[in-house]
Parts: sequence; structure tokens; C-alpha cells
Amino acid sequence: MTSSILSAAFERHFGTAPALLLRAPGRINLIGEHTDYNDGLVLPAAIDKEIRFALRLNGTDRLRLAALDFDATYEVALAEVAPLPDGHWANYQLGVVAGLRARGATVPGFDCAFGGDIPGGAGLSSSAAVECGLAWGLNELLGLGLNKMTLAHICQTAEHAYAHVMCGLMDQFASLFGRAGHVVRLDCRSLAYEYFPLDTTACRLVLCNSGVKHALADSAYNQRRQECARGVEILRRHKPAIQSLRDATLPDIATAAAELGEVVARRCRYVVEENARVQALTAHLAAGHPLPEVGALLYASHAGLRDLYEVSCAELDVLVELARAAPGTFGARMMGGGFGGCTLNLVATEQVNDFVAFMTAGYQRQLGLGLETYVTTLADGVGALAG
Ligand code: GLA
Repeated sequence: MTSSILSAAFERHFGTAPALLLRAPGRINLIGEHTDYNDGLVLPAAIDKEIRFALRLNGTDRLRLAALDFDATYEVALAEVAPLPDGHWANYQLGVVAGLRARGATVPGFDCAFGGDIPGGAGLSSSAAVECGLAWGLNELLGLGLNKMTLAHICQTAEHAYAHVMCGLMDQFASLFGRAGHVVRLDCRSLAYEYFPLDTTACRLVLCNSGVKHALADSAYNQRRQECARGVEILRRHKPAIQSLRDATLPDIATAAAELGEVVARRCRYVVEENARVQALTAHLAAGHPLPEVGALLYASHAGLRDLYEVSCAELDVLVELARAAPGTFGARMMGGGFGGCTLNLVATEQVNDFVAFMTAGYQRQLGLGLETYVTTLADGVGALAG
């Protein structure tokens, strides 16, 4: 959606021109899955799929939203902002307003039109983009002076309190802190972060959208979080220094195996191993991208997510197995929360077309399903658009 189309849509809905236009990207994650809420390491990047926003303060005590992609509007008095039933699209924005106020901000009435090209349910964090775009935009319009890390936390809390997904910080961080041509490693404990260039002349990151999102994905996500918390509780009895799974080692898990039980022990082992894979992968990036080694870590991550963390599904497993046989693949894995969404594939640049053709034909042949693919470009985080 161009800036002029967005402005015209805003004007059609609200009768006046917007004061601010901005964009908020979706994200990929190279490696470090389900580690963020365990104080661990993640390696995401913002991508060239984004939500665009037009905003203006409206001089009333009401907020008015227009969702341009699905032609829906929502309006409420600011004094009455509260969570809507689960699944309502406006929950993300309402959660942001509530979060800004909880930090002491006064949020007056405003109008917001938004729309974009991040496919929903594909695990590319369209909801984080919606949250981060509005939070950043209101911060600008109101001159609140909140820094981006604070905005990320406000948006994460919006997701917890208004969408009831107990997510970590990765998606919101990536949408706000992305940098073109780079992935960024975030230490979710210290909040220290470091950018690593990803050279796309040798390889591209290709997403294969399984097209499925299994119904229990959100509740299974929250359940994994609880299983990890249970693991920490037990591990601490043996070693009080363990504050989170970030502090645990494989021998710690072996020592407590009987009390942990098989399921919780598997979850813990996955998280410990995945953190080590993030370290290994960033070491490879720093040493100049040996692509087969990077790819092997992606395959290993998928195996852990499938067998130990148990958040994959048949469609994602088929895509990863197909990718092994496809032209140009260095590595592949499911990405994001799981139970559907996209696989992430590291593919030799000159073989991307052959890869896509092979995957599309194979997915159709094996599961009778169509496949959308996206060759991603790594983009800057949230920012203003020229009017
Ligand atoms: C979802 C959550 C993130 C993260 C990933 C799994 O995207 O929103 O916080 O936990 O799943 O890595």
C-alpha cells in the first residue's frame, strides 16, 4: 500500500488527512526458538513484509480504528478500553493503549487506519507489527519519549493481557530493532543485543508457508511455558543458582531426570541445546558464514523442536524433509511458535528459483496443498514513512 493510498483511505474513514505515516515490519528468526521466555538467546531479523499505519489525534475522548485489509472498523471511548473476546483483531491496539497508560502516559482520542502484506497465521508476527507500529506512532505523536526497549515490553504485555498469549520479547524486539541486511542477537536476560550482517549474495532466506495454523497453537504455547517453569522449579532444588533454563546444563537435567519426568526433561534439554546452537551460529556468522555449518544448525534446531519440544506438525516436517532434497538448500527448520506457519530455508542464491519450484511441486504431490513462498530481504525496524 503506497503512502498516498493509505492517506486517502484514512481521509475516507476519518474525514481529514493523517498527521503521521509509519511502517512496522514482520520478522523471521534465524535460530533460537522458544528460548526468549527462558531468559535465553534469539537471532531474529525484521523483513520486507510490513504493516503501514496512518495516525492522527482526533480531539475527542474516543479511539477509532480502521483495518483496511479486512474492511472493519472499531471504536471505543478511551475510558472503556478493556479486552475484547479472544480473537478480536482490535485487542492488540487496545492492549497497547492500556500498556502506555500503565506506564503513566495520557492517551487522548486518536484515529488509526492500518493495513499491510504480512500474511496472517504464517508465524511472521503480524500481531507484533500491529502492536509495535501503534506504540511507536503514539510515542511520536504524543512526545512520550519512551525508548524502543520500553515500547517492546509494553507491546509484549499487550499480547499477554489482551490476546492471552504468554509470548517472550523476540517478536516485538525484532519489529522495533531490525536493521536492513542484518540479523540481531538478543540476550533476553540482559537485553544486550548485537547485529550481524547476513550477506545475501551467497545465500537467501526463503520462507515456505505451510498454510496451516493448528487450532491449539496458543494454548500449547502457554503450556510449553508452564512446562519450562516447572522444570526450573525442580532443577533449583538441586542447584539453587538456576534462576531460569538459561542457567541449566545437560548434566543438571540428567541429575534431576527422575523428578523432572520424561516430558519436562525433554523440554529442558531442548532449551539448553537451542541456546548453544544460537551461540554456535553467531560464532559462524562472525567467522564468515560457512553455510553448510550454519545449515546443519538449522536442521538440528528443527529436530529438537519436533522431537523434544514437540511443537512441529506433519506439514512442517514434510516441508523440512522436502527441503533436504531440494536444489541449493543448506538448512531448514520450522520457525516461530510452531504448529503451523512457515519453515525457514537457507538456500544458495543462484538456486532459489529451482528450490521454490521443487518445494511447490513436492508439497502439492505429498499433501495436495498449495505452497506460498517468500524470498525475504532483511529490513529496518519500525519507522516513519514519507507522506
Ligand atoms: C512466538 C512468540 C515468541 C517466541 C516464539 C518462539 O513467536 O511470540 O515470543 O517465543 O514464538 O520462539
